[in-house]
Amino acid sequence: MRLALRWQVLLWSFLLGAGSAIAADKPIPSTQAVQLAQRPGHAGIASANTLATQAGFEVLAKGGNAFDAAVAVASTLSVVEPESSGIGGGFMATMYVAAGKRTVFVDARETAPAAVNSKDYLNPDGSPNRDTALKGPLSAGIPGEPAGLAWLAKHYGKLPLNVSLAPAIRIASDGFKPDGRLLGSIKEEQNNFARWPASAEKFLPGGKVPAAGEIWRDPGQAHTLELLAKYGEAGFYSGETAQKLVEAVRAAGGNWTLKDLASYRVKERAPLTVDYRGYQVITAPPPSSGGVAIAEILNILSGFDLAKLDEAHRDHLVIEAMRRAFRDHNDYLGDPDFVKVPLNMLLSPYYADGLRQTILPDKATPSSMLAPSNGQDPGMHTTHFSIIDADGNMVAMTCTVNYTLGSTFVAAGTGVLLNDEMDDFALVPNKPNVYGLLGSKANAPEPGKRMLSSMSPSIVIGADRTAVIGSPGGSTIITQVLEGILAVIDGGDAHQAVGKKRFHHQFMPDVVMVEPGAFDAATTNALTQMGHTFKQREPWGFMNVVIWDRRSNKLDAASDPRREDGLGKVQ
Ligand code: GLY
Repeated sequence: MRLALRWQVLLWSFLLGAGSAIAADKPIPSTQAVQLAQRPGHAGIASANTLATQAGFEVLAKGGNAFDAAVAVASTLSVVEPESSGIGGGFMATMYVAAGKRTVFVDARETAPAAVNSKDYLNPDGSPNRDTALKGPLSAGIPGEPAGLAWLAKHYGKLPLNVSLAPAIRIASDGFKPDGRLLGSIKEEQNNFARWPASAEKFLPGGKVPAAGEIWRDPGQAHTLELLAKYGEAGFYSGETAQKLVEAVRAAGGNWTLKDLASYRVKERAPLTVDYRGYQVITAPPPSSGGVAIAEILNILSGFDLAKLDEAHRDHLVIEAMRRAFRDHNDYLGDPDFVKVPLNMLLSPYYADGLRQTILPDKATPSSMLAPSNGQDPGMHTTHFSIIDADGNMVAMTCTVNYTLGSTFVAAGTGVLLNDEMDDFALVPNKPNVYGLLGSKANAPEPGKRMLSSMSPSIVIGADRTAVIGSPGGSTIITQVLEGILAVIDGGDAHQAVGKKRFHHQFMPDVVMVEPGAFDAATTNALTQMGHTFKQREPWGFMNVVIWDRRSNKLDAASDPRREDGLGKVQ
């Protein structure tokens, strides 16, 4: 298949000639004469839930930095937005550490248990068993978020872990009013919760979906967070919590062991860096596929002068770049600790040159001309938040339990809702996962391996403006973050970046997914003439962005207007 793609690249290059790229980069205006601020002096946080943003500011007020605030925001989201992320799941964070002027990527992604067996995800007739892949304990990877939060506190924070976890513990104990999104998700999954007593106890108190406006408490999770606060990582991965997790999982047909939990390790990796129109985009490396795809798309686009084109031709080139990057997603990417990912090739400007030559300026390339793959549903799950603190430390963190409300399995006695991240592996080769993504052997499940992710927490560093950006949304994360980055680089503020109308192409199905208003009638018409086909979808994503303008020394924070419960705030 790879060989086929290379031949196609060569053939198209030959047919089109080397001069078919439209033009070169747009220069960035010089701002050298302006005095640039060295630190913001105040902070910005944007998250998907008001209580979580407030928890971040609470910890900053106690003397914490962006990394402590990230612990507070993520743990609070585990309580108030369990449909999207939690301590039963994992996260990926791209960070900027102001003191050392360095970037780092923290990988707290889940891992497969040692006893993982692909046959558990097949029906007796050999067809994929979507229930074991998405519901119950077999769908859950070993959680990474608790270890990741302890890691941030230990290596980057200024405050002890118990101080940063305090808001989440308080909210879980005292209770809160769930928002409509959480109540709607619980309603949708109530039949699954009813399958497991501890799930029903947590999510269906008194046997029913909590009513709007009712206070909802989560004493089980409060206790587990207290043990994490008191003993650090050991408070989750050994002792009481570990025992209970393993007992509950095994009693319900899962295969975790105490050793799986004790062996879990956070990984620090070098983030990917790509230069685009004078900006440095710092983004997620494998086992995320997101950063590689974003880098590949930006490398392709950097050979075009998008600003000189009308909207239809500009969108056409972006769609074609998306198509090609998603094609590579399926073939090459997996956990770099287990498989060799050809990053040098995928990120090479020469590789991008070759792909660019295959793009016709006025005509869509049928995906079938490039090679095979599949379709998806962006859903509402996973969460992203962005933080810049007064010293200029930055955290872009995307957290997930995978699909809405994860496995719907709560481990008895812990209050921990487990993820269903095992579905992010290519459990059955060439059969799509819940996002319609296919995978190859590179992303096959293996003991201790991390499943591929689309999470793309990113930081965009320009001469005088820096943005922290990310979003949930399955495979659409990648194109959302790309479009947000392009909006920032085009000069947009945080509200414009999160509000920009979205479109998405992921190679297969060969259709451009569009939210209402993404293209006006003339653009739709022109793109249709070029051969693109469209599928209208309800708005998707929940982007959260903080921007620091070093000329005015102003911070700007915004949460996606498509959802009501988010809060972007500067103070
Ligand atoms: N579970 C969604 C992702 O990591 O891409």
